[in-house]
Amino acid sequence: MRRGAWSNRYAFYLATVGSAFSLGNLWRFPYVVDSNGGGAFVVTYILLCFIIGMPIVVGELMLGKLSRLSIISATDQISQQSAHAWVRKWKPWKWVGVSANLASIFLLSFYSVICGWVLFFLVQYLVHMFTGIPLADDLFNILMKNGWLQVGLMSVHLLITTIVVSRGLKQGIERLSTLIMPLFMALMIYLVFKSLSLPGTVDAMRFLFYPNFSYFTSETLLKVLGHVFFTLSVGMGAMVVFGSYLRDDTYVPRSGFKVTILDITISIFSGFLIFPIVFSANINGDYGPSLIFNTLSVFFNKMGLGNFFGLIFFICLYLAALGASIMLLETSVAHLIDSKRFKRNRASWSMIVFVFIAALPASLSSTVFKDMKFMDLSMLRLYDKVLVDYLLPVVCLGISLLVGFGLTKKQKENLFIREDEMDSENLYRNWHFLVRWLVPAVIILGFFSSIFY
Ligand code: TRP
Repeated sequence: MRRGAWSNRYAFYLATVGSAFSLGNLWRFPYVVDSNGGGAFVVTYILLCFIIGMPIVVGELMLGKLSRLSIISATDQISQQSAHAWVRKWKPWKWVGVSANLASIFLLSFYSVICGWVLFFLVQYLVHMFTGIPLADDLFNILMKNGWLQVGLMSVHLLITTIVVSRGLKQGIERLSTLIMPLFMALMIYLVFKSLSLPGTVDAMRFLFYPNFSYFTSETLLKVLGHVFFTLSVGMGAMVVFGSYLRDDTYVPRSGFKVTILDITISIFSGFLIFPIVFSANINGDYGPSLIFNTLSVFFNKMGLGNFFGLIFFICLYLAALGASIMLLETSVAHLIDSKRFKRNRASWSMIVFVFIAALPASLSSTVFKDMKFMDLSMLRLYDKVLVDYLLPVVCLGISLLVGFGLTKKQKENLFIREDEMDSENLYRNWHFLVRWLVPAVIILGFFSSIFY
């Protein structure tokens, strides 16, 4: 089946970066940096984005461009075409595809709880704007005390996501991303500018960039890896879907590089936004997932026209998070359509039922399941840890082996080595070494250190 292609390059970058650039950068990055000691985490994160994340982004895009299919069908095809009888029989690559798809479904469930929080703040600012009712000081606590409100918000979010997905990828995502990305960028630049003029900026910069490796524990490597995969949207088949819509003449390594650079820049920017506020307001303690919500409400409160900017910020953040959710759902819906011949509408609605059920425990984490703790973690943080710190690295290990060993040399070289690209043979050799050997080695090292030390 021949797919449509992105109408232009700009649309591709907007959609891909739009999906990569979302809660991972604005919500998760500051909070994991905060919980893991600052600079050492940031420096390792930047390094691993390049040597571990980027090779996988390129690999996934390549997989999509080669097969023009979604990840399960693509990986099934690779297993079937293998020269080794055992691969044709046991289809190890297909299992990588299946687990990537499962990762995207579970991730969406946890993600939509946070999207619900963003929606709550958005509505609060909106109500304030139109009625003048003052905003409560402890908005976040109000939300945390009300579990069913979180379920409601999560459901509304899932409903919106499903409606967009059931109407089709191109129209939905392209239109949305084209509209919000430039606006959000401009707003971020303005807010960062404001935040950097706060008195805590020097301390914030030291915290963000001075690498104190004594904060490194045996689990940190795995945490950094998980976050790199999460923020670059790999390990869930999303980049495979994007790759499958790439035009024939697009040079995949360059796209991978640009997506990575942009994503890192936006994360660092969100560090510049959040940490001066943290250090200026003396917000102490491990806030965990609530970090940006608590800091930003303080910030907007004190800023001239703060509530107006707060409203615009949460609208943009919500739309970015919606774009990401759409893409997460799209990866599994694309599979049902490609290989199970479902109609788009039916595929979207049946998928969302699973997602909703899986999201319930996470939404009720601060109320009904308050006392239920595993490894001292609340339900929500448990989801976060299991999905991002453990599942994503496992799936990405599979994907790097699949790209490194499952695809033939010819398939890879055809996409990589081009006469009109300078030094592409050298680039190919380096990339291939990274996906085939270094990426698996570092992921295994991460697990090894977290289990045995
Ligand atoms: N990268 C996204 C973020 O930073 C989250 C994400 C992970 C995602 N995997 C994805 C988004 C797949 C879209 C598709 O928030």
